[in-house]
Amino acid sequence: MKIITALKGTHDILPGEVFKWQYVEKKIKEITEKYRYEEIRIPVFEYTDLFARGVGDTTDVVQKEMYTFDDKGGRSLTLRPEGTAGVVRSFLEHGMFADALPKKLFYMITCYRNEKPQAGRYREFRQFGVEVFGAKSPVLDAEIISMAVDILKNFGLKNLVVNINSIGCPACRKAYNDKLREYLRPYYNELCDTCKTRFEKNPLRILDCKSDVCKKIGENAPVLIDNICDECSEHFEKLKNELKTYNIDYVINKSIVRGLDYYTKTVFEITSSSLGAQSTVCGGGRYDGLVEELGGNPLPGIGFAMGLERLLMCMEAEGVYMGEPSKADIFVATLGENTASYATGFIKKLRDNGICAERDYMDRGLKAQMKYANKIGAKYSVVIGDDEVQKGICNLKNMETGESEATTFDEIIEKLK
Ligand code: HAM
Repeated sequence: MKIITALKGTHDILPGEVFKWQYVEKKIKEITEKYRYEEIRIPVFEYTDLFARGVGDTTDVVQKEMYTFDDKGGRSLTLRPEGTAGVVRSFLEHGMFADALPKKLFYMITCYRNEKPQAGRYREFRQFGVEVFGAKSPVLDAEIISMAVDILKNFGLKNLVVNINSIGCPACRKAYNDKLREYLRPYYNELCDTCKTRFEKNPLRILDCKSDVCKKIGENAPVLIDNICDECSEHFEKLKNELKTYNIDYVINKSIVRGLDYYTKTVFEITSSSLGAQSTVCGGGRYDGLVEELGGNPLPGIGFAMGLERLLMCMEAEGVYMGEPSKADIFVATLGENTASYATGFIKKLRDNGICAERDYMDRGLKAQMKYANKIGAKYSVVIGDDEVQKGICNLKNMETGESEATTFDEIIEKLK
């Protein structure tokens, strides 16, 4: 019978590579904690409405990429395509707005988007993200960007570009949308079918369309940042000054509109030239209207998410250290039938003391046991035979150097713990 394979666009993280993920996740958590973020864990699926309202029903994500299904009760549910909408929902549902503000949250989640898979683009992928609620100061915008840079630089990544832009607020967006429609109108018939539906409702989304024709049409469109209001402009100036204080080199990339509808004012993307076409490692921005959009009282918000597959790809490409696979501290070999229960007691003691101990379960001879110990990369080994049990003295072998020392079982525990 044929084996069943994983779905296109999904991938297993195998035991031989999971240590890299653990290394990256641990390090990210350590850095995030320095900035006083608290972890939040949210469900994999939510009501479809949450994303339609939160992410926006004219976005590619909602229109084309969501895994949506009806459950047995006829409710439309969706696998989360991103984390922000779910975190905002949870923030509101659990009244976190009554906590000390700003509320600073982080998450490590899987996300699901029905995109065409390619290197760095998957249908199930992992994100590390942060969301902050309650503060509208550009000081926070800069800190958020600086934290993302801090994380990436901590991993030793070099080929990074910090792209920033402002996409204004609903007030300046309205006037801009009129201008954009005027520009797009002569090309209306050439737009893809999806973008035709966006023309009236949300023309900005046309600038984010992946179709080549729409992309080309968008190239000479009026630029949003050149049309933002004084308040948004001032916010952006302050952000730039603050980034200078952090010594962060940035480029103003006027073409960044982001693929999700909730953004206001600051948007940013960190790209890496170590990646191929999917070069954005991290993207985010301010979303001052989203909490209200999802039913809360108006409250500003800002955040970003980092694609963890892409982060690991960058690290791999730049030859960055990614931790080590964990190895057994000691392999306990047995010789003769009567030694097995002594070995069991010793192994239990080792493990009780936090030492990673391994043994033979396959009735192998001594030579085969040592071969296995070598294969699994055990750091030390000890052979327990009748003599060792009787005298309480054994030989601890350093598997790397091949050196042995006579010692007691208790001394082994003291040495390895
Ligand atoms: P996003 O730009 O859609 O933003 O995704 C953030 C990051 O997730 C991307 O920069 C990329 O590294 C990674 N990513 C996205 N799609 C894929 C995919 N198909 N395969 C692999 N990696 C992918 C958001 O999701 C926002 N929620 C970020 C945010 C948080 N904004 C404010 N708060």
